[in-house]
Amino acid sequence: MTRDQRLVHDSGLNSGTWPVAIPSHFITPVERFFTRSHAPVPSIDPSTWRLEVEGLVRRPAQFSLEELIAEFPRRTGDATLVCAGLRRAEFLALGPLPGELPWGPEPVSTGTWAGVALDDLLREVGVEAGAQYVEFTGLDRVEREGHRFGFGGSIDLDKAMSGEVLLATELNGAPLPPMHGYPLRSVVPGWIGARSVKWLGRITLLAEPSANYFQSQAYRTQRKPDPDKPRDVSSGDPLGEVPLNAIIAEPAEGVVVPNGEVTVRGWAMGSAGRPLISVEVSPKGGRDWHQARITMPGTAWTWSLWEAQLRLDTGSHALAVRATDRAGITQPAELSETWNVKGYANNAWHRVAVVAE
Ligand code: MTE
Repeated sequence: MTRDQRLVHDSGLNSGTWPVAIPSHFITPVERFFTRSHAPVPSIDPSTWRLEVEGLVRRPAQFSLEELIAEFPRRTGDATLVCAGLRRAEFLALGPLPGELPWGPEPVSTGTWAGVALDDLLREVGVEAGAQYVEFTGLDRVEREGHRFGFGGSIDLDKAMSGEVLLATELNGAPLPPMHGYPLRSVVPGWIGARSVKWLGRITLLAEPSANYFQSQAYRTQRKPDPDKPRDVSSGDPLGEVPLNAIIAEPAEGVVVPNGEVTVRGWAMGSAGRPLISVEVSPKGGRDWHQARITMPGTAWTWSLWEAQLRLDTGSHALAVRATDRAGITQPAELSETWNVKGYANNAWHRVAVVAE
């Protein structure tokens, strides 16, 4: 793949730009940001749009965009959005994944988000005892199993009250573009991108996790297919925090590089906000490891960019990368250790085959 190429999956609602995570773009410019939408972008009139807050709250409320901006302090934060389908295509080596988008390492981007802190808004409406989950529902119309409904999902109340979650009105210093959720979206740092719900219309405080299809039947890791319903993952574990991951962005898969010293670059990110303690790169598929240098350290909620010099003699090479975080957690070596029915959250060592000439 050449520089700055946008890879579009199916209808054009789902796309990512190569190469990902280059040093000049620690914050991903909007025109390079990946897009993942399960239905067309809804057309929303900002003058009539309202955010409804309901469920287990003391004072159910509706807010216009002006009210949100005027009544709450403006909060900003950098966060890397990681789609749960990142690196799904690698699983295809183990068998087909019908109905799932064959994402490579492109559905990941880092934004500077600004808006209202979710905990400020929840304190304003008052959380009732018994509330355990915060559900977000979008205004798009997704069709599944004969029903049309807004994309949604929920997060734990602890995360919602942590001060880390934003209801964003801006991305990279400008109003959210329509494709990224205008006028308002949740941004849940460290959690799968699916919980950062775009075109937000409703927030509901619940005693149980959301019953939305994208919480109860998708975005779940199920390691053993049900023989009667082989594509069904409703008895799997719901995805929340994104696992530790590291990716080789350059050189890209299959390229020919001059033999000798080769610069390898990529990104890595800890899980649950934990800092990285090392990123290691192997020129031999994991048989020996060399420390990479962190060239652009991130925050708890963003990627960090790394670089390493490897000596590659003439011939074929299987490069690999793995990261370790402060809890001593590292990545599984093999795809088979992380494979699941819908191909989510692949964080096996990322391997890239190159040829040195
Ligand atoms: N929100 C709505 N309303 N509809 C969607 O289809 N897709 C989710 C999430 N929020 C989605 C959504 C998924 S799966 C991801 S990975 C992110 O949005 C992608 O955000 P982006 O398109 O701004 O990159």
